[in-house]
Amino acid sequence: MSQSYPIAVIPGDGIGPEVVREGLRVLDRVASIEGFRIEPTTYPFGAEHYLKTKEIFPETAFSEVRQKRAILLGAIGDPRIEVGLLEFGIIAKMRFELDLYVNLRPVKLYAEHLCPLKGKTPEDVDFIVVRENTEDAYAGMRGFFKKGTPDEIATQEILFTRKGVERVIRYAFELARKRGDEKKLTLVDKANAVRAMDLWTRTFAEVGAEYPDITREHAYIDAACMWCVKNPEWFVTVVTSNMFGDILTDLAAMIQGGLGIAASGNLHPGKVSLFEPIHGSAPKYTGKNVANPLATIMAVSMMLDYLGETRGAARIEEAVTNLLRSKRIPSLGSDSGLSTSQIGDLVLESLDRAKVPA
Ligand SMILES: NC(=O)c1ccc[n+]([C@@H]2O[C@H](COP(=O)([O-])OP(=O)(O)OC[C@H]3O[C@@H](n4cnc5c(N)ncnc54)[C@H](O)[C@@H]3O)[C@@H](O)[C@H]2O)c1
Repeated sequence: MSQSYPIAVIPGDGIGPEVVREGLRVLDRVASIEGFRIEPTTYPFGAEHYLKTKEIFPETAFSEVRQKRAILLGAIGDPRIEVGLLEFGIIAKMRFELDLYVNLRPVKLYAEHLCPLKGKTPEDVDFIVVRENTEDAYAGMRGFFKKGTPDEIATQEILFTRKGVERVIRYAFELARKRGDEKKLTLVDKANAVRAMDLWTRTFAEVGAEYPDITREHAYIDAACMWCVKNPEWFVTVVTSNMFGDILTDLAAMIQGGLGIAASGNLHPGKVSLFEPIHGSAPKYTGKNVANPLATIMAVSMMLDYLGETRGAARIEEAVTNLLRSKRIPSLGSDSGLSTSQIGDLVLESLDRAKVPA
C-alpha cells in the first residue's frame, strides 16, 4: 500500500486560488511519479466566504484541519475587508492555536540572473532562517490608553519565554547539523539594546554546549541586514526572534529573486504544519492568470520534505531550478511573458525529466 497524506488546502483570497491550483497540479504529478497519495480537503475560508456568510474560520472546520498532516495556504487579505480581521482570524489563528513555533525560510538563489546583488552566484546565496513564530511583539499583549486624545499612550509587550526560545534554538541546532558541509548556526538578535534578549544569548550558549560539532556565531540584527546584502555567503543556518525574522526574511527574499519564489513552512515538528508562499493576495492581479505560482510550488516542495517525501521535494526543486537556469521561465514577476497556468505546465513537463538521487 502506498503512503497516503490527508492535507487541508486553503486557497484564500486574490491570486491565492490561482497559484494554489498550480501547486496542487504539481503535487498530484509528483505523487504519481513517486508513488504516494495525497487526500486534499479544500476549505473556502477567506474574503468571499466571509462576505457571504460572516464566517471566518469556524471551530468545526478548525478541528478537522488539526487532524490533517499538513496545510497548504494560498494568501489571505482583501481590500474590501478591515485590515487584519481575516489575517488574524485565519493565519494567526493557525500559527497560535496549532502552536506552529518554527517559521522556516530557505533563502536560495536558483539562477544567478535573478539576484539583484552584483557578482553573487547560487553558491553565495544558500542559507535558511529559523524564525520563532509564536512570541515576541506578536503575542498580542498590547493596549491603548486615552486613545484618540493628545495624551494617548500605546504599548505592546515584547515577550520571550524560556520554553519558547529554547525549543526554537534547539530545532535550529538540529537543522544546522543536517545541513551541508559547513556546520554553523548564527544567532541574530539585538541583545545590546533589547536587554530582554539576554535570554536568547544565554539559551543559545547553554543549548549550543550540547552541539559541540556546530560552530556558533552571532550578529546583531542591524549588522545581519548589512551582511545579508554584502556577504550572504557567510550565513548557513540562522536562528532569530519573531520580529527580526519577519524583517530579515523579506530582505533575504529579495536576494533570492523576490516574492515570486520565496516559500515558508510554519512548523510544529511532528504535528500538523502549514506551508505557504510568503507573498500576499496581490489583489491587482486577481483572476488575470498572470501571477507567478513558483513560490507556492516551492511551498509544496517544503511540505513534501516535511512529510518525509524527500525525493518528491527534491524533484520539484530540481524541476524549478532547471526552468530558471535555462531561462525557460525568464523572470519571477508578472512580467515573465508566461501565464500562471503556462508556468504550471512547464513545471509539470520538467518534473518528469528531473534527476533526483535514488
Ligand atoms: N500570508 C499571507 O496571506 C499574506 C502575506 C502578505 C500580505 N498579505 C495580504 O495580501 C494583501 C496584499 O498585500 P501586499 O500588496 O502588501 O503584498 P503582496 O505580496 O500581495 O504584493 C506585493 C507586490 O508583489 C506582487 N506579487 C506578489 N505575489 C506575486 C506573484 N505570485 N506573482 C506576481 N506578482 C506578485 C504584487 O502584485 C505587488 O506588486 C494584503 O491584504 C495583505 O494583508 C497576506
